[in-house]
Amino acid sequence: MTAPLRSSDPTIVNVALGERSYDIVIGRGLLASLGGRAATLKPGAKAAIVCDEALARLHLPVAEAALAGAGMTSSTIIVRQGEGSKAFDTLERVCDALIAAKIERGDLVIALGGGVVGDLAGFAAAIVRRGLDYIQVPTSLLAQVDSSVGGKTAINSSRGKNLIGAFHQPILVVADTAILDTLPPRQFRAGYAEVAKHALLGDAAFFSWLETNARDVFAGTAAREHAVATSCRMKANIVARDERETGERALLNLGHTFGHALEAAAGFSDRLLHGEAIAIGMVLAVEFSAKRGLLAAADAERVSRHLAAVGLPTRVSEIPGDMPGVDGLMDLMAQDKKVKRGRLTFILVRGIGAAFVAPDVDPGEVRALLSEKLA
Ligand SMILES: NC(=O)c1ccc[n+]([C@@H]2O[C@H](COP(=O)([O-])OP(=O)(O)OC[C@H]3O[C@@H](n4cnc5c(N)ncnc54)[C@H](O)[C@@H]3O)[C@@H](O)[C@H]2O)c1
Ligand SMILES: [Zn+2]
Repeated sequence: MTAPLRSSDPTIVNVALGERSYDIVIGRGLLASLGGRAATLKPGAKAAIVCDEALARLHLPVAEAALAGAGMTSSTIIVRQGEGSKAFDTLERVCDALIAAKIERGDLVIALGGGVVGDLAGFAAAIVRRGLDYIQVPTSLLAQVDSSVGGKTAINSSRGKNLIGAFHQPILVVADTAILDTLPPRQFRAGYAEVAKHALLGDAAFFSWLETNARDVFAGTAAREHAVATSCRMKANIVARDERETGERALLNLGHTFGHALEAAAGFSDRLLHGEAIAIGMVLAVEFSAKRGLLAAADAERVSRHLAAVGLPTRVSEIPGDMPGVDGLMDLMAQDKKVKRGRLTFILVRGIGAAFVAPDVDPGEVRALLSEKLA
């Protein structure tokens, strides 16, 4: 494992997708360089910044000043905070505002926010004028290590999450790790679950490194840049090999089949954030792997110990309020898009850092695990 870089050196991770390749630039204080970077990629363009109310208060002024400093005119579109903005009415408003601001094919959309703003603004950029260039400026840990990378954009349908969307890659991702200093701690922890997921699915040395350095990642020293960069590199490599999730990209769903069912059971509410659900889901996935004889029980234990050590929930019983029983959770999993002809697709592990796709899991075995864990 390489030593964390000095925080003064931005780290660049390339997402290699042929003519749609782009860089993820990671470092502390990078927001101030947004204008120069945007103007270099799109000389003469004007920009529309999409952000939510929290970001408008906290970080929009720096972004606007950065663009102005590079001679780029910008307008701003502010949406409400929260998952509710990933909806048709808000999408319509954002698209309309982009057209009103005369953002054309040569111009630029900038998504300044967490995964909600990234998914919404990215999707608007995909469809307005049949496709506008956009830059992701992810401001939550989840967005920096996960949602801003890979080009999946979407809003929700009343029938389910992320069902209406498009693959539309950004032209640049600017991940300023200092922006995370204002992120509420619970949101930071939830994003950390995806960092741990990247380690667990493909990088045992990174998992060990996290066990030693998680405190510094949370504190915001250079270790944070290292964790974000290593996570992005993992996701970027997987996306480069399988952009449209016909195979390997499914590994990124580790913990998500269980996790989505728990999120749905909790009503996609503040009771259980996505990353918290994924933490519990990952523990179930490693316990399932151990039960199948794929993974040493001590390694499964190591995973849940690390997640608990950073303050993430690891047990269904830690979710506040009533949760459905085994039958209810099985029904929710059956509705997940990872079900094919009655068999469940799970991501299981053969060791820390060695996940694989198990496309044909017997629901009976899953039921047995849940019965044991919920008892
Ligand atoms: N496209 C993908 O590949 C992908 C992958 C994973 C998740 N997602 C999507 O991402 C969304 C979740 O993203 P999220 O967890 O970032 O949620 P979010 O965008 O709602 O952000 C969480 C909260 O933190 C606030 N916030 C964000 N950055 C902040 C900062 N720097 N300082 C203070 N407050 C800040 C936001 O206002 C919000 O209230 C979900 O809709 C999910 O479907 C997409
Ligand atoms: Zn996730």
